[in-house]
Amino acid sequence: MVAALTSESVRLADLQFEPFIGEEEIRGRVTSMAAAINTWDLGPDPLMISVLNGSFIFAADLMRALPFTCEIAFIQLQSYDGTRSKGEIVMEGARLGVPVKGRDILIVEDIVDSGLTMYYLIRELQKRRPSSIRVVTLLHKPEMQEFPITLDLVGFTIPPDFVVGYGLDYRGLGRNLRGLYRKTGEF
Ligand code: IMP
Repeated sequence: MVAALTSESVRLADLQFEPFIGEEEIRGRVTSMAAAINTWDLGPDPLMISVLNGSFIFAADLMRALPFTCEIAFIQLQSYDGTRSKGEIVMEGARLGVPVKGRDILIVEDIVDSGLTMYYLIRELQKRRPSSIRVVTLLHKPEMQEFPITLDLVGFTIPPDFVVGYGLDYRGLGRNLRGLYRKTGEF
């Protein structure tokens, strides 16, 4: 089933979604997040780590909004199956391919739900002795969080709804929606 990207509400496979956070609002928030990051005391060689798949659009926009040069690397982690957390992390292509030791790391995540993905990644990265690790997430569902992690910058705090768009998917669909949409019903 192909969703119409222009309609008010969107159907992806067996689920219905309604508009939640619009493109303009996201753009404004990404700009202000980049400005906030620019005030941080980062060393000369910061490394952005984008958590695939969901953060690829956010990471691209955030990186282009940053006024300083920054390297980026990608890591593929998965804890979700459909609309639910699996409660375990699957690491695909987990080789970063760049040095981490002594560098200021900015983890760029699309959404923090239970916090398991971030908890796991932070622990793995700490083994490689970075100078610092900061977590930047576009979305946070605080009511769902179970794992003790510190989020340094949050774009939007949202209720525990399932959302898609701007890189986030349902069964691989909806990533190219320009705004964020939330689940309203099932078919
Ligand atoms: P956590 O490990 O439970 O914090 O889940 C984080 C990951 O689950 C994110 O990187 C997303 O891939 C996925 N996820 C969590 N909530 C949603 C959602 O509402 N829509 C789409 N993906 C989600």
